[in-house]
Amino acid sequence: MKTILTGLRVNSELHLGHYLGVIKKLVALSNRYSKTGYEINLFIPDLHSIITPVDDDLQTNTLKNIKYFLASGLELNDHVHIYRQSRVPAHAELAWVLNCFATTGELSRMTQYKDKSAGKTSVGVGIFDYPVLMAADILLYDAEYVPVGEDQFQHLELTRTLAERFNHRYGETFTLPLAPKQQVEFMNLEAGVRIRDLVNPEKKMSKSTPAENSKIMLSDSPEQVKKKIMSATTDSFGEIDFDFKTRPGISNLLVIESLLKDEPLETTLSRWRGTTRYGDLKASVAGTLAAFLSNLQSKAAEIPDADVLAIFPEGEAYANNLANQKLTKVYEKLGLR
Ligand code: TRP
Repeated sequence: MKTILTGLRVNSELHLGHYLGVIKKLVALSNRYSKTGYEINLFIPDLHSIITPVDDDLQTNTLKNIKYFLASGLELNDHVHIYRQSRVPAHAELAWVLNCFATTGELSRMTQYKDKSAGKTSVGVGIFDYPVLMAADILLYDAEYVPVGEDQFQHLELTRTLAERFNHRYGETFTLPLAPKQQVEFMNLEAGVRIRDLVNPEKKMSKSTPAENSKIMLSDSPEQVKKKIMSATTDSFGEIDFDFKTRPGISNLLVIESLLKDEPLETTLSRWRGTTRYGDLKASVAGTLAAFLSNLQSKAAEIPDADVLAIFPEGEAYANNLANQKLTKVYEKLGLR
């Protein structure tokens, strides 16, 4: 059994970077591989969500975000398993076991931890331990394929290290996920569709940027989209061209247009390159985006909560079954059974 597994975070309102960088790709991946002999585990890492106080309603966000996946064309079939981490107790249990195999040195070297703890004398243990729970999420299902962004590569490497360490001591127990480089190759997720911040296009679009005009939320109205795109930072070359190094703003708009139109970047570029029509390009992107978002929003709005809630029982039964078998095997090896 070949498994593709990934965690869909639901802490925050989703923005365009999430859609183009994650949702769109995962939906394509799932639709394709669920029909060609793979099991697809898409789970909500809700225990990961609580490493920082959750101000939004986790339950509502979970439903809302799954609706966006469904509205984006995610097909459900017997090989697609959607579940909530907190409904599969083996995740937390295996995380404890793996804690006993991870070192403070390893966890201290995680970039995400270093970023979140920079300048603080003390941070929550959950932030420190986050990657170990993530390793458990993956290893419980022997998932080889784990499509994640570059920011998670280090956690994937740690997962491999912990699996190897356990296997070395207790015999073959866990399947190692592929190394990040092979993940990228396998899934042909051309590393890094990185949608940029509209105001400061040197940076990627991020939920934590306070400036409202910096990001397009999936819930934005056509008016908001228009206002934000028309005021996006471009450049003063006077002529449109594509180059993320020297003209990140306009390049970002070209990428957005090409991805939403599902056309090669070259095609989009051929319409605009060499022209001086910055305003026209913005108007075109705003139009494409506004139409795209209203369509997505109305599709999502048509899905009743009950339909989403009805998806979990199958996924959670499937997950508990596999996860408990793996956990039992681990406990046996450790002498706990
Ligand atoms: N850490 C991932 C993120 O921040 C989410 C996640 C949790 C995950 N557990 C996972 C992703 C297991 C892949 C596999 O986006």
